[in-house]
Order: sequence, then structure tokens, then C-alpha cells
Amino acid sequence: MNTLNHFATPQLELLHRGKVRDSYRAPSGERLIVVTDRLSAFDSVLETPIAHKGAVLNGLAAFWFDKTQHIIPNHVIELLDPNVTLAKEAEPIRVEMIVRNYITGSMLRGYQKGQRTFSGVSVPDGLTKHQQFPAPIVTPTTKEDSDREITPENLVREGWVAAELYEQMRVKSLELFNFASAWMAERGIILVDTKYEFGLLNGELILIDEIHTPDSSRFWSAEHYARNPETAEQMDKEYVRQWLIQNKQDGQYPRALTPEVAQEASRRYLDIFERITGAPLPTGGDVRARLVGNLVRAGIMKDAWVNIVMGSAADKEHCLKIRQNFEAYNIFTQLRVTSAHKNGEEIAGMAEVWNNSVEPGVIIAVAGLSNGLGGALAANVNVPVISCPPWKDYAELAMNLNSSVIMSSGTPNLTVVRPDNAAQAAVRALNLPRLREQLSKEILVTKAKLRAADAELRVL
Ligand SMILES: Nc1ncnc2c1ncn2[C@@H]1O[C@H](COP(=O)(O)OP(=O)(O)OP(=O)(O)O)[C@@H](O)[C@H]1O
Ligand SMILES: [Mg+2]
Repeated sequence: MNTLNHFATPQLELLHRGKVRDSYRAPSGERLIVVTDRLSAFDSVLETPIAHKGAVLNGLAAFWFDKTQHIIPNHVIELLDPNVTLAKEAEPIRVEMIVRNYITGSMLRGYQKGQRTFSGVSVPDGLTKHQQFPAPIVTPTTKEDSDREITPENLVREGWVAAELYEQMRVKSLELFNFASAWMAERGIILVDTKYEFGLLNGELILIDEIHTPDSSRFWSAEHYARNPETAEQMDKEYVRQWLIQNKQDGQYPRALTPEVAQEASRRYLDIFERITGAPLPTGGDVRARLVGNLVRAGIMKDAWVNIVMGSAADKEHCLKIRQNFEAYNIFTQLRVTSAHKNGEEIAGMAEVWNNSVEPGVIIAVAGLSNGLGGALAANVNVPVISCPPWKDYAELAMNLNSSVIMSSGTPNLTVVRPDNAAQAAVRALNLPRLREQLSKEILVTKAKLRAADAELRVL
């Protein structure tokens, strides 16, 4: 399926996995934000990804960050791929600046129960469902495990943000909101409410996270609103929510969508993108292949990885001997330590990354005596596993070999005895066109050397 449900790679450090976005540390120290096609509804992530949703969200955020630079600088360095933004790492201010222009959602529920003050803002009596406020209001919340409404005074008193900074954030939030509302109004979309996050970069206030996307905002169709304000609903997600409600079973929402519902949801996201930006989002092609290609071109990652996993740090030298053979191939290599016997429980977490990696990889397992590691890895991962047990002489090799070669069913481990051959086998197992081309050249060089040696020695 041509969607990005999960992004994983052993090459980058995962900073944070949100419901929809995965944030990584780029080699330069900057922040890599991968917007996946995951959709969350009723506070849980559905199993079915929505094609192009990640590119729509990332593209819209990029569009708005660009359009609002005259209001405030932001964290964007570059859009590396339709699904990926490279951003400056800021010191985040743990406050969500929520701007609302209509009474709906959790606020409406509070209002209907008699609440009239929200994060210190008083709203008038007599508002009806989805009514517009006289002017947009800012209702901040703290960013913690469970966000809470808080007055600006208490934000300052509790040390979340300095008073002066908060005032700047408030003014900028309203400016951004008014700018985007006017833009969208011309395109038949009501910006109902949204949230902004700010950070400090070298002491300067900048905009971070995402802005004016369907995940951080509510969009209503102006046409539907004009027809009946009370039935206005979110242009993006409401369709999926309604389907989930209609298909509830035993009080539980379905975990997955039908292909038709996922496709219609996708169409709605693409439509929003086109309406706001004025141009359709380019689609087509394989998302993962494109993503890896773009990240490789940007120098963020290599197009393949090899993890050399040893059962004990005592095997480090042997692993380094294997590793040096990869130098000529521009492959990401990494040493890991885990013992199948002593902390085999670690394998599950490692396998999660290996098994979901967006780029191809191979594992080389290094364990002597009774090699449980190669088998345990081979049984749990979906990439080739090559065992290369350590040995200093043939007696040790003979002793070690049996446990690497004789494997139970369902443990498709390969064994190569020499470190250089194990690396060469791994390069071949990766099966990448560029590596195959390089290997073909190497084979020709070897043949030429042998021919030259033959020519030299036959005349002796
Ligand atoms: N440029 C940046 N510098 C530092 N932190 C950032 C930057 N941009 C975004 N962040 C932070 O990264 C995190 C992104 O989290 P994300 O939105 O993916 O998940 P979440 O907020 O934990 O959960 P949810 O999926 O419910 O939104 C937020 O805490 C945000 O403040
Ligand atoms: Mg978030």
C-alpha cells in the first residue's frame, strides 16, 4: 500500500513519536519532522493510514509558515520531502496558544453547562451552538500530560512563560489567526479555531510545530455554515468520525476503515489542500522510495544499513573487523550489544525498528560458543541475518560453528565464517542496484588481477 503509516530507521535518533508525527534528530543536530499518514479520531490512532494525508498536512504547514514570515519567523529550514520538514531546534515554550472565533467543541460543552470564563476570558450569555464571537479570543492551555486551561496570569505565576513573552505570543497568535482567516474566507473555508506553539531560538520568539493544518485547527465549509451554523462540521475528519459512530460494535469504534472510506477521506484532505493553496498536491509514485531518496540526497541518511549485533562487548574487535569491510560501500553501519540468553527481551524493541525501517538493512550476528543470537534475531526480524561467530583459531571455530549452522525451524540464519566474507555477503544481501553495479566492477578487477598474475607467472 502506498502510504506512510510508520517511519522507522536505525540511522536516526527518535526524539518523539506523536499520534501523527515522528520527530527525529538530524545528523546536523536539527529536528526532522516526519508527518505520517496516520489519522487519529476519538483520541486513538486508526490502523488504516489515509493516503497523502501526511503530505497534505506537511505541505499546508509549509505553505502557511512561508506565507506568515512577515508576521513572525518560524522553525522551517527546508521541506526535504512532501512528508518531511527539517526544522530548527528551538527551546519550546510549554504553552498552547488556542485561538477561537466560534463556540464549538469542548468549549461549547462547558458553555452549555454554564461555564462563562475560559482561560480567564469571559464570554457573553446567550451564545448559540457554533456562533461567532464578537472577535477571536485566545484561550491558552499548558502543555503537559493532560493539558489544562489556565489564565495568562497563572501561566506567568507558575513559571510557564514570562509576562512580556506571553503578550508577544498573544499578539502574534491573533495576527496569524486573522491573516489565515481572511485568506481561507476568500476560498470558502472558515477557520474556526487553531493552536500555535512558540519557541525561543537564540532568545528570539519563533513559531514552531505546525500551523493551520486540519490536525491543529478546525475548518468548516462556509457554504455549510451559511446553510445552518449548528450542523457545520469539520471538513476533514468529521466524515471518518461519522462512519466510526455508525459502525460501532459492542460499544467500540472500529479500529480500521474500509478502503472506500479511507479513499474518500484522502480525497477530502487533497481537496482542502487544493482549495487553500490554489494548486493540487502532486501525488503518484511510491512514498517510501521517494522519502528515502530525498533523505539520502539531503545527507540525512544512507540508503541502507547494516547492524552488527554482538552477544557481548568482548566481541567488539571481531565486529570492528567486520565493519571495516563496509567502508567502501557508503552504507550506514552500527554496532549493538544484546545477549539472546541474558537480555533477549531487548530484541523486541530493536526488531521493531529493524522490521519497520524505511530503507533496506541486514543484520550480522556475532556470538560464539552457543550462538543463540543469530537464531533469535532470524526468527524475529524480516531482514537477512548473517551469523559470523568470533574465532581465533580453527579449534575455536570448530567448537563455535555447530551452534551457528544447526538451527531449528523458523530460524533462517545464514552463517559465514570469515569477517570479510560476512560483510561481502551482507552487501550482496542488500541487493541495491548501486551496490550490484559496484560489485560487478570489483568482480572484473579481481578477474583482471588473476589474468595479470597468470600472464606474469606463465613465462617464468
Ligand atoms: N522546532 C521545534 N523545536 C523544539 N520542539 C518542537 C519544534 N517543533 C515542534 N516541537 C515539539 O515537538 C512535539 C511534537 O509532538 P507531536 O505534535 O508530534 O505529538 P504530541 O503533541 O506529543 O501529541 P499529539 O500527537 O497528540 O499532537 C511537541 O511537543 C512540540 O512542541
Ligand atoms: Mg502536538
